[in-house]
Amino acid sequence: MPTEIYAEIDAYFEQNLLGTDAVLERISRDSEENGLVPHAVTPLQAAFLALMIRMNGAKTVLEIGCLGGYSAVAMARALPPSGTLLTTEIDPRTAAVAQSNIEQSGFSDRIELRVGPAMSVLDDEIASGAIYDFVFIDADKVNHKRYLEASLKLARPGTVIVADNIVRGGAVIDAQSQENSVIGVREMFDFAKTLQNVDMTALQTVGEKGYDGMAIFRVRGDA
Ligand code: DHB
Ligand code: MG
Repeated sequence: MPTEIYAEIDAYFEQNLLGTDAVLERISRDSEENGLVPHAVTPLQAAFLALMIRMNGAKTVLEIGCLGGYSAVAMARALPPSGTLLTTEIDPRTAAVAQSNIEQSGFSDRIELRVGPAMSVLDDEIASGAIYDFVFIDADKVNHKRYLEASLKLARPGTVIVADNIVRGGAVIDAQSQENSVIGVREMFDFAKTLQNVDMTALQTVGEKGYDGMAIFRVRGDA
């Protein structure tokens, strides 16, 4: 896979479309210095999520899987001042890095970071009757299906749900795969197949972080 050209083209797009972004670049640096895995979305993907949030007019965002806070801040910036974003992080040490990044970004008034297994946060949100306009699923891929299921319980007509990492370098079509993350993503697609009231698609992506993709869902209804 010629990943070098993908990275060069990402750099070209970034230069022309995004320019420098002191806030996100700082989070990237800080995440690396603190030894977090380099699994945050790319600058162009972050801009894509921000665009989707603006296009949907979302005011409430749920992120499942925070890591260092890179995508949380990118998405929170796309919200109106009254908007709110809830994000989850299972690892307390990672969450401390993220919380500091969120505070330094200047968007901590809009972002709540809850530390714990995503599924227990989602169960709490479902129990409280919360509704979200936009959801980004980006935690462990083993539970991708459960996260999509929970997201749909937290959705209204018009809610958009984006699920990251659905290609896994091509492994997603390997029905014999023993890799738990691949099995998890495939379970999500088996579940997606059964959905009646949802418009959906999936896009393969290449770029500085290699070959992967995102699935996009929108709950049908009047909105
Ligand atoms: C992995 C996780 C991610 O969320 C991502 O964007 C890329 C890779 C991983 O666990 O390998
Ligand atoms: Mg991801």
